[in-house]
Amino acid sequence: MVVPDELTLVDAWEETLTGVRSFYRGAHGDPYQHFATDIARGGEIIPLIRELFAFASDCHGGPLTVIDVGSGTGELLTRLAIAGIDARLIGIDLRPRPAGLDTAIEWVTGDARVVAGEIRGIRGVVVAHEFLDDIPCAAVEAGEDGCPRLMRVDPSSRRLVIGEPLEDPADLAWLDRWWPVTRPFMRAEIGRSRDTAWAMITGMLDSGAALAIDYGHTRPERLAGTWDGGTLVGYRDGRVVTPLADGSCNLTAHVAIDSVAESAPRAQSTRIDRWSSAPGRADFVSLVQTFT
Ligand SMILES: C[S@@+](CC[C@H](N)C(=O)[O-])C[C@H]1O[C@@H](n2cnc3c(N)ncnc32)[C@H](O)[C@@H]1O
Repeated sequence: MVVPDELTLVDAWEETLTGVRSFYRGAHGDPYQHFATDIARGGEIIPLIRELFAFASDCHGGPLTVIDVGSGTGELLTRLAIAGIDARLIGIDLRPRPAGLDTAIEWVTGDARVVAGEIRGIRGVVVAHEFLDDIPCAAVEAGEDGCPRLMRVDPSSRRLVIGEPLEDPADLAWLDRWWPVTRPFMRAEIGRSRDTAWAMITGMLDSGAALAIDYGHTRPERLAGTWDGGTLVGYRDGRVVTPLADGSCNLTAHVAIDSVAESAPRAQSTRIDRWSSAPGRADFVSLVQTFT
């Protein structure tokens, strides 16, 4: 039964991302006090981007562009500028241009799911580091009968509650293909919104490569039950907390990276790996796709 006042998880999560309760737009202070990503120090990422950049250069030669989607503090682009990458560098983020960012780095403030749709013909590299896990998605919990029921949000406590059986045919088809709900009480997140976001991001590329690095998982792990508890959590003060959709924490759920990869049918090649450099991050994955 649907209690009329309950919110869909996607709507409530979206409020904490781009809406009135936006975690990143700072109603609760500087969001970057709550976590540090590996982008500032990780030793693997700059060599990998150099390799992808060389591939892009071999495809068509210059001039080339690197776009960092969900650029945060602009740290990755800053590192690329210091490393002397000979490219136009563009950051896209919900947040305003970081103070003191190298003036050679361009910045677009906005929802990357919209901004990316307006950019075409890029030759170079697009990167999304810890971006897709922030994109709101629907989630289910199986009942005792094994049927998936939608997770909803109580509008006053902003806590997750279990709602009605899932009926949306596209969501059911996605689960069937990527994360079959087969065990009572298991949870699963439905990755369609992340697939759409990746399709938009890779749609910017004429030729070159796209790189996503994120908390993620693949179908064999999901089938084996490794992620049966679901992965939706909140982050506050660098810790995992109960996912309250009130803007006090960053809501995140792991990315079904193989499904995301399939959303870019123009890709010439696809490589999915564990991303090993982040300590304690056994569940970090990378996706590299090339486009010619
Ligand atoms: C976890 S932080 C990662 C930042 C940076 N990529 C890093 O790894 O340090 C996610 C960033 O993505 C941005 N973001 C999330 N959803 C977005 C959206 N729909 N459009 C643009 N930026 C978004 C947030 O504002 C935040 O700066």
